Amino acid sequence: MRVLVSGGAGFIGSHTVVQLVAAGHDVLIVDHFGNSKPSVVNRLEALTGTHLPVHAFDLGDADKTEQLFSSEQIDAVIHFAGFKAVGESVEKPLEYYENNLGSTFSLVRAMRRHGVDKLVFSSSATVYGHNPSPLVEDMSTSATNPYGWTKVMIEQILRDVAVADPSLRIAILRYFNPVGAHASGTIGEDPQGIPNNLMPFIAQVAVGRREKLMVFGDDYPTADGTPLRDYIHVEDLAAGHLAALRKLTQTDEAVSTWNLGTGHGTSVLEVLHAFERAVGRELPYEVVGRRAGDIAQSFADPHRANAELGWAATRSMDDMCVDQWRWQSANPTGYPDA
Ligand code: UFG
Repeated sequence: MRVLVSGGAGFIGSHTVVQLVAAGHDVLIVDHFGNSKPSVVNRLEALTGTHLPVHAFDLGDADKTEQLFSSEQIDAVIHFAGFKAVGESVEKPLEYYENNLGSTFSLVRAMRRHGVDKLVFSSSATVYGHNPSPLVEDMSTSATNPYGWTKVMIEQILRDVAVADPSLRIAILRYFNPVGAHASGTIGEDPQGIPNNLMPFIAQVAVGRREKLMVFGDDYPTADGTPLRDYIHVEDLAAGHLAALRKLTQTDEAVSTWNLGTGHGTSVLEVLHAFERAVGRELPYEVVGRRAGDIAQSFADPHRANAELGWAATRSMDDMCVDQWRWQSANPTGYPDA
């Protein structure tokens, strides 16, 4: 298939591009490098041994999106592009709604005009709101911040579009907590500024860019008092996209929703200790107050994806830390600027 990957220079997008090429697909990237660096593409071309055409523009630009679909033959779209920082979304709600919804509108409009009928969409476990874990796909959805609402809203928009256009086949993938990196150590997560998420923060402590990890609360109702999350290796997550894309060519369902998680919760301190094993030394941390909006536990029920996609996460927390550390230690300041 000829697959358009939006946000193909981002963390999950880049790992998925590598697997798509390995599976024999032809890949086109659209990315405006708002939260990634163009040098990612050089790494991807080196890894895949393929030239990867990149269209560097903002998908909110409906005219450019239309031009792209007019000039390229496209069979399927994997839509990763989007703003994703919870805290920032509270500060800049309009920007989040405009960017995440606007890019989806112009993409889906262009798809419909050009008869592109397969779409895989990056959703998030955040749409489960305060539902109790394990989280199951048919639970109600809600959100506690504008970022989360963009995911809830886009899911609904896609379901509505699928009713109006029965030829569409849409996969909504709800990611849990993606971490780790490609085994080569040449691509990985490269957050701009201070990392919001746990694993990249620990990795930056390990490499000396941050003094110590702040553990946001140890008074939760869990075994060690720190919150449980379902961390999933980005390579397992990427494999889930290929499985979903394959399924879209075979299914009669217009919209399918799948959790991509391991089904296991790991605490903040357990992640820290796994990372210490990967690095081979202890890492400094301090317990501070809870972070607003955090919940005690979030982990998937992954059975639907296991059964319907023939997919399951295979990599352990130790694998995730070893791979993340290989990437971080080889690229202490992330991707080069040029
Ligand atoms: N944590 C710390 N210190 C840090 C960073 C995180 O203690 O410096 C803790 C958090 O309090 C939380 C856990 O580590 O208990 C995981 O936090 P992350 O920010 O890595 O992940 P979240 O589960 O909070 O957020 C993720 C995604 C969001 C998504 C959310 C819900 O990053 O995009 O899951 O699905 F909205």
